[in-house]
Order: sequence, then C-alpha cells, then structure tokens
Amino acid sequence: MFRALCLLAVLASASACKPCTCGIVRGARVVGGRAVTPGEFPWLAAVKRDGKLICGATVVARDHLITATHCVYEVEASRLTVLVGEHDVNKSRSEGIRVSHVFQHPDFNRYTYDNDIAVLRLAEPIPDNLYRPACLPDDEDTLAGVDAVVSGWGSTIEKGPPSSIPMKAEVQIWSQEECRGAGYGRRKVTPRMLCANAPERDSCTGDSGGPLLMAQPHYTIVGIVSWGRGCARQGYPGVYARVDRFMPWLRVALRHACTCLPPSASYK
Ligand code: ARG
Repeated sequence: MFRALCLLAVLASASACKPCTCGIVRGARVVGGRAVTPGEFPWLAAVKRDGKLICGATVVARDHLITATHCVYEVEASRLTVLVGEHDVNKSRSEGIRVSHVFQHPDFNRYTYDNDIAVLRLAEPIPDNLYRPACLPDDEDTLAGVDAVVSGWGSTIEKGPPSSIPMKAEVQIWSQEECRGAGYGRRKVTPRMLCANAPERDSCTGDSGGPLLMAQPHYTIVGIVSWGRGCARQGYPGVYARVDRFMPWLRVALRHACTCLPPSASYK
C-alpha cells in the first residue's frame, strides 16, 4: 500500500506543473535595431529545419514554443529542432532540442498567411537555466498605438544576410483601421493580423515566427512575425499574426503545457 502511494506521488509530481512566472527579463533579424544582449530575451528561440536556421520562435512553457505556421508548413516534426539560450548562432555547437509535434493552425492560408500561428512541442523540456517564458496575452487587448519590441536573427537590411546575433527594434502597433489603409490594400489585412513599425525600423526576412512583445507590465507576446513587402519600407509596415485572437486555439494546443503566470497574478 505504501509503495503504491509512493508510486502515485511520483507519477503525480512528474505530470504536475511547478508554479512559474512569465515575462521577466534577466538582469532582432531586424532592420534599424540594436543588438540583444545575452540573456536579455530569455524566451527568444530559433527554429532549425534540417540543421539550418529558418525562423524565430517564443518559449511559452518548458517544452512548448509559439512560431508561425508558414515556417513549419507541412514539415515533419522530426526535421525540426529549436535553439534556446543561444546568442551567436554561428558559434553555437548545439544541434538544438528536438521537436516532437507541430500544431499548425488548421485555418492557415498559405496564399494570404491568414492564421499564421503554430505551436511546437519539444521532445524534452528545455533546461531550467536556459530560458524564461514570455507571457500570453488576454483574449482581447487594445493594442493600437502601443509600443512593442520585435527581435530575431533575420536580415538587418532588405535582401541582406541573416544576423549571427539577435537584434531588437522598438516599433509601434497600428490601429486596425490604419493597418487596412497601409500599402497592402484592405483585403490583404485580416482581423487575425496586426501592423507594426517605426521610421526605418521593421522585422525582416529570417525573423518570421519570432515574437513581437509588449514590454509593459511584463513581456507578453502580442504578435508573431509573419510578412511584409521588403523591409522598413515607408507605408509598408511589418505584418504580424495577432496572438490574442488565437487564445481559444492556443489553450487547446497548450493544454499539456506548463504555462506560467505574470508576476502580479501569481501573488493574488
Ligand atoms: N516572411 C518573412 C520571413 O520569413 C518575414 C518578413 C517580415 N517582413 C517585414 N517587412 N516585417 O522571415
């Protein structure tokens, strides 16, 4: 009987989630940005396909990340790994952590990039010392005019090479009405997308799948780098998957994940 209880206790602790806090900094490829310092964005991850870095991603739990579906569209999980806690990816000797399952958004449209969000489940948890998760947003956030930061290993100029260290840029989120009025035309921008940029500042090729974060009151993922015309072109902001619209879907995709609470919430 005692042994059975012990076994039960062990099983329960293996599946239970330890309480944890999201959105805290320790201590972008991005156009018009500055270098991210090591450990500054401990949720920032890179996705590799067949060993080659293709996209960014955001850690939201010890074994789950959010990225763009267009990064992993119809790619088998066995070909994917993620690098977490890395800075200069050219100096990295790690192959990355294996991905065990890809949840693509079922309504992703590969022509319009509507619903460009995916969840990656890892084959094993990320070692505790290598990461801190970003927070997830509420179901509906007012984002127009809000300052946000985008980061990644993408190009620092349009058509330029990827960056070996991540860059970050502060950008402003547009209202949906302004976004629909951008150079892309109203039909290209769906309610599942948001626009963000600043003069001479934008995400760029290779940043796809990476986070657009609101820094206040704690780092929260509000967008996923999705598409744009060129990079940092006037009138053509970066277009992001709008994470709050996907919360019902994310709760299902993350149902086995140990997600963390924002600092204030954990003391309520
Ligand atoms: N689709 C691009 C990628 O695969 C992201 C482009 C973002 N473009 C922009 N102007 N913000 O990396």
